[in-house]
Amino acid sequence: MKILSITRNNLINVVVNLIVISSYLSLQINGNTVNKGKIPAFIVFGDSIVDPGNNNYVATIGRANFPPYGRDFPGGIPTGRYSNGKVPSDIFAEELGIKEFVPPYLDPNLQISDLLTGVSFASGAAGYDPNSAKLANALSLEDQLALFKGYKNKLKAAVGENTTSTIISESLYLICSGSNDITNTYFTSPITPLQYDISTYTGLMVNWASSFVQKLYALGARRIGVISAPPCGCLPSQRTLHGGLLRTCVEKENQASILFNNKLFSELTSLNKKLSGSRIVYLDIYNPLLNLINNPSQSGFEVTKKGCCGTGNLEVSFLCNKLDPGTCKNASKYVFWDSFHPTEAAYKVIVHEVYEKSIDKFL
Ligand SMILES: *[C@@H]1O[C@H](CO)[C@@H](O)[C@H](O)[C@H]1NC(C)=O
Ligand SMILES: *[C@@H]1O[C@H](CO)[C@@H](O)[C@H](O)[C@H]1NC(C)=O
Repeated sequence: MKILSITRNNLINVVVNLIVISSYLSLQINGNTVNKGKIPAFIVFGDSIVDPGNNNYVATIGRANFPPYGRDFPGGIPTGRYSNGKVPSDIFAEELGIKEFVPPYLDPNLQISDLLTGVSFASGAAGYDPNSAKLANALSLEDQLALFKGYKNKLKAAVGENTTSTIISESLYLICSGSNDITNTYFTSPITPLQYDISTYTGLMVNWASSFVQKLYALGARRIGVISAPPCGCLPSQRTLHGGLLRTCVEKENQASILFNNKLFSELTSLNKKLSGSRIVYLDIYNPLLNLINNPSQSGFEVTKKGCCGTGNLEVSFLCNKLDPGTCKNASKYVFWDSFHPTEAAYKVIVHEVYEKSIDKFL
């Protein structure tokens, strides 16, 4: 058994080296043209927007592994993804030509081949603020980084030190966090707003984000994309909780997102200069999502103020109810799937826009 597995690992080693060498060669031949093959793996950190099911293996109540979640996923399977179908990490990996689905790192059935092309460490309810994950007993970004170290060791055992460091330095890393900090840990908490004004709190969020990016860089990552905060005040749950009888977008929550995003943008710009060889890229989703909410018909959407599942205007829980009979028939007409997370159709529009605008900055 031992001999067999060593042989298999050597074989993987040879194949990976060939892939790395051939993509290097084609990059030389193509000169400056975009070469997607140069990015060997896609590695993801963050919250429910990019959690493909890690929370299924964590003792948290914040799970999405029951119907109607996954209704439009292949086989209609509720994988733990917080949507009716794919989540942004899947769609981004597909745009990169790497793979169709980015699996959760905690899935016990993962193969070496899954690790070689990337995994997600994200956990629903996580935030830059360590308290966000703590409130829901989810994996904090610090926990996710600890798992990433284990991931690197598994790669080393499978393909050796040198190939591992090539994979680690050439892969694309995506970080998606911050909305739970703003909506839950700040605006829904009776205490946090008394401790910090929103300017101070968004400053703290950016400090945590910056420290995470620097730790990731120290572990070998170079191509790091950081997703902005969405217009938090226009999430259906926030309209219900703080948007008054008309359920308008909550202006102070949108302003908090803008404040955070502006500070995040400057911090990432400065890190990108400071950390040699890095490609640290700010990825705006605030404007693409707000545009869908304000001009839904341009992209074939009809409903923006409530999710496809839930009890419509009265929905304050962030998740669908199990087997909710009120779930809409065609999620593609809705920007939001539940009262916090967009539909696969909305994610596709947004990720495509983000990808087109940013891919050159990583190469
Ligand atoms: C790994 O890389 C180092 C430095 O480039 C080199 O000296 C060493 O021979 C390589 N090891 C293997 C197993 O390829
Ligand atoms: C669902 O809605 C989308 C967007 O309006 C439309 O393109 C599609 O044909 C609809 N699907 C069904 C089964 O009605």
